[in-house]
Amino acid sequence: MKVFLSLDAAARALGAEAVAARLTEEAAARGIDLTLKRVGSRGMAWLEPLVEVERDGVRHAYGPVRPDDVPALLDGTLEGHGPTEEIPFFARQTRLTFARVGVIEPLSLEDYEAQGGLSGLRAALADADAIVQTVIDSGLRGRGGAGFPTGIKWQTVAGAKADQKYIVCNADEGDSGTFADRMVMEGDPFSLIEGMAIAGIGVGATMGYVYLRSEYPDAIATMTRAVEIARASGLLGESVLGSGKAFDIEIRVGAGAYVCGEETSLLNSMEGKRGVVRAKPPLPALEGFFGKPTVVNNVLSLATIPVIFEKGAKHYASFGLGRSRGTMPIQIAGNVARGGLFETAFGMPLGELVNDVAGGTRSGRPVKAVQVGGPLGAYMPASAFDTPFGYEEFDGAGGLIGHAGVVVFDDTADMAAQARFAFEFCAVESCGKCTPCRIGAVRGVETIDRLTAGEDVRDLVEDLCETMRDGSLCALGGFTPYPVMSALRHFPDDFAPAKEAAE
Ligand code: NAI
Ligand code: SF4
Repeated sequence: MKVFLSLDAAARALGAEAVAARLTEEAAARGIDLTLKRVGSRGMAWLEPLVEVERDGVRHAYGPVRPDDVPALLDGTLEGHGPTEEIPFFARQTRLTFARVGVIEPLSLEDYEAQGGLSGLRAALADADAIVQTVIDSGLRGRGGAGFPTGIKWQTVAGAKADQKYIVCNADEGDSGTFADRMVMEGDPFSLIEGMAIAGIGVGATMGYVYLRSEYPDAIATMTRAVEIARASGLLGESVLGSGKAFDIEIRVGAGAYVCGEETSLLNSMEGKRGVVRAKPPLPALEGFFGKPTVVNNVLSLATIPVIFEKGAKHYASFGLGRSRGTMPIQIAGNVARGGLFETAFGMPLGELVNDVAGGTRSGRPVKAVQVGGPLGAYMPASAFDTPFGYEEFDGAGGLIGHAGVVVFDDTADMAAQARFAFEFCAVESCGKCTPCRIGAVRGVETIDRLTAGEDVRDLVEDLCETMRDGSLCALGGFTPYPVMSALRHFPDDFAPAKEAAE
């Protein structure tokens, strides 16, 4: 009997280890020849711990499975969801970046290659001079949030003259409601390693670093082991896959500051300095890690590179909408019936994602607002639900897609409290380098309190937001006005004084 069980941190948090132990125990007691494979998550978080039983080469899903469900599972009497890949949430996805996550054993290079792994790197090595142009042609844009064209960034680094260049992977995934980077690192670590190797060979960098947040211990362990395996197998080292081109990777662990996800602050942290933001220019592409030309890309951007080379830039670019090409691994969280990882071509309207894919709220109450793009993202009301998922489209609707975290709130949410939280978050996480953010965020908390207490200080809040937006050095201070102003604009009643609300 062949059984697959997720080893993703979310599944483990929900009891996957106890299910694994019970499976082994119960199978032994019954004399069943059990092959238990631990894989990444299929991304259907509401079904975790998800157990898949293979029958005639097809995996059938059961979940959430509790240890006490195991006897029924082995008896064949436990009710399931049918073939995993036919569950509507899964079936309607276009999985390019996540094609292998949940399918392979994360640390099996054999599994990885059997599912198309390394063919991208081999294709890239066959014509290394064309690497940067291929990435430009794919239309891939930075998945960390800003959406800057990845190929153009690589071109800048490739064109810079220096004795040493670096690839830095930003794995400091700090946005609320986001977990796609973690899922890749835990479920398909070699795709990130392969993507970084292609980047290194494309721009002439021989060393790469993964800056991984300390809050992701499982990802740290998996990535560390994957790098060791890659080195031992010749995928990393002096001669990548025997090409004569060198590339190696080190894992660096962050210390828990949200602002260290900002690229220049991240570089300072990696250099052993305090994690404060550097002024740009100079761009990291020209003067980055220890002053050398550095590609800083998010996990998703780099983990998408292999499939672009495996299937071709044209194939990747054939998905999407407008200038948002390819697919986006969207992370659905908050008050939803079905949360998880949903990879789809750009273009799906927000309302379809929330109501249809995610099944509306878990509480069964009406959706009030959706925050897209992390704690610095705007709150979108139901009236904006026809906005297609795309960089320009969200920008036009007063929002941003950021790292594609979608957090849903029902009608009990207090948007004044959410606006206050945005300022509070900024005050706590500010690196303190510039005044609009360092002082503005603290004044913002006070001003929201005055507003909700009945003082007419709305103009002051707007003024403050404008100053922070235009005067902050980085996105933390610069984008805090998004959640604040969108909450004020779309939900003004929530800011009415408490006595009015009580009437
Ligand atoms: P940015 O717009 O300043 O830069 C985007 C990227 O393009 C940077 O890497 C920059 O160095 C590069 N770049 C710009 N011009 C270039 C050129 N000519 N050549 C080469 N490279 C060039 O945006 P920033 O401040 O890096 O990121 C802000 C975004 O980060 C926001 O949109 C937000 O959504 C996102 N974010 C993501 C988080 C996460 O957990 N993933 C957390 C917080 C914010
Ligand atoms: Fe630091 Fe805030 Fe200024 Fe960014 S906006 S540089 S986090 S003080």
